[in-house]
Amino acid sequence: MFRRTEPTDCTILWDGQELPARSGESLAAALLAAGVLAFRETAVSGAARGPLCLMGACFDCLVEADGKPNVQACMVPVTPGLVAAPQHGVRGLPETEDAA
Ligand code: FES
Repeated sequence: MFRRTEPTDCTILWDGQELPARSGESLAAALLAAGVLAFRETAVSGAARGPLCLMGACFDCLVEADGKPNVQACMVPVTPGLVAAPQHGVRGLPETEDAA
């Protein structure tokens, strides 16, 4: 469905699988180029979701990236060795030190 027009220069780890990527491209672009279409599962039905807008508006590309949940894959630039995984259902908000 998607085809790269430029060579890759690094790798990322997606759900335990090493995938080729290009530094600076979005994580969503790297995953789509590698054939990954399902980035998360919905909280209610568990239906698969993947990127729709690729500009930070739809939130269908939420993944866990470098240990952080609720990350929009279309807004995160690839860095060599980035570790990401699909997001399953609802994730909580990050805890803050001010929370009581
Ligand atoms: S693809 Fe729509 S917010 Fe990322």
